[in-house]
Amino acid sequence: MTTETTPARVTVGTGDPVLRVRDLQVSYGTPNGDVPAVDHVSFSLQPGQRLGLIGESGSGKTTMATALMRLTRPPGRIVGGEVLLGETDMLKLDEKGLREVRLRDIALVPQGAMNSLNPVMRIGNQMADAIEAHEGRAARKGMEERISAQLARVGLPPTVARRYPHELSGGMKQRAVMAISTVLNPKVIIADEPTSALDVVVQRQVMQTLGRLQEGIGSAVVLIGHDMGLIAQFADLIGVMYAGRLVEIGPVDEMLTDPRHPYTRLLIDSLPKLTAKGKLVGIPGLPPALLNLPQGCAFNPRCPYAFDRCHQDVPAVQQLAPDRRAACHLYPANPALPALPASVQMDAATPLELTGPAMEGQEEVAG
Ligand SMILES: Nc1ncnc2c1ncn2[C@@H]1O[C@H](COP(=O)(O)OP(=O)(O)O)[C@@H](O)[C@H]1O
Ligand code: SF4
Ligand SMILES: [Mg+2]
Repeated sequence: MTTETTPARVTVGTGDPVLRVRDLQVSYGTPNGDVPAVDHVSFSLQPGQRLGLIGESGSGKTTMATALMRLTRPPGRIVGGEVLLGETDMLKLDEKGLREVRLRDIALVPQGAMNSLNPVMRIGNQMADAIEAHEGRAARKGMEERISAQLARVGLPPTVARRYPHELSGGMKQRAVMAISTVLNPKVIIADEPTSALDVVVQRQVMQTLGRLQEGIGSAVVLIGHDMGLIAQFADLIGVMYAGRLVEIGPVDEMLTDPRHPYTRLLIDSLPKLTAKGKLVGIPGLPPALLNLPQGCAFNPRCPYAFDRCHQDVPAVQQLAPDRRAACHLYPANPALPALPASVQMDAATPLELTGPAMEGQEEVAG
């Protein structure tokens, strides 16, 4: 019998960062104006570190993941910032340079990845193509063994190499995409909602596979999702996105026990608790339309802590500790997030998983 064990984590968070994102800004041009979908986002990751990026649908997660790979397509546009892989700025590379670093240095498991497989090509050939594109024809020697070994890494038998995507289950397809994306041992893996379309049991298995894969390679991971519970089990760091901004980031334990941003607090409170069966607390209200953000803090219409200043000024990102940042006017005046005002009644009828913000004057886009 085989048991799914997660190997002891190698030392994480040491050494020079493999990924540094500075002031990244991405907009979508629309007939009604530019939509700032990623707004001055900064973070860095060290080798082996796992960042879980969480936020409601429409908060800019996929836009950011795509921009990190320089795969932004019109009407999207990277407006500013830096995406440094070591010393290389992704945003300054030409097409040839980009082809070299993608897969080899940074790889994306895209949202809806199962549909990203080429339907008319066997899995093994898709892997061989990726390898050959980077290493040339010399890589053909020993290719079969290499493909089998890579499939084994994601828990798939070697026979999968001869299969077409439609012959695989959802979980197997997701594993196949992970195998193809990481076949060149990238330093950074970005996985955009890799488990969203899967049932709960398969979700856990795919997360364990991603963890083992990452440990084997020693790469850093950005795992994107909207399920705080699932992400918290996997990540070392949690980043919370709201309306295109990274509103809080910090180590997972601290984020769970001592959240500083009111939105993070509400995300945690909305996690189902074994001790309080049936009492699910939702976050009242809807995410804002990015074209028409409220004045001041974008979270102010939903924030139980909002005070005068929140309706006037956009809160700057505050460094609260060496590895803690939050964008909220409660700091630096408060040493921690104050207790929720007793008068605040959370609206239990509003579920956490909300659909994307209504983009006024825009066609609906997939979240
Ligand atoms: N092609 C597009 N045109 C215009 N706006 C878009 C487009 N794609 C995404 N957006 C907007 O950008 C915002 C962020 O979207 P996205 O990055 O997909 O969010 P998430 O992945 O967090 O659900 C959303 O408000 C969405 O409406
Ligand atoms: S800045 Fe104000 S409205 Fe925004 S999260 Fe902080 S307290 Fe709430
Ligand atoms: Mg998305």
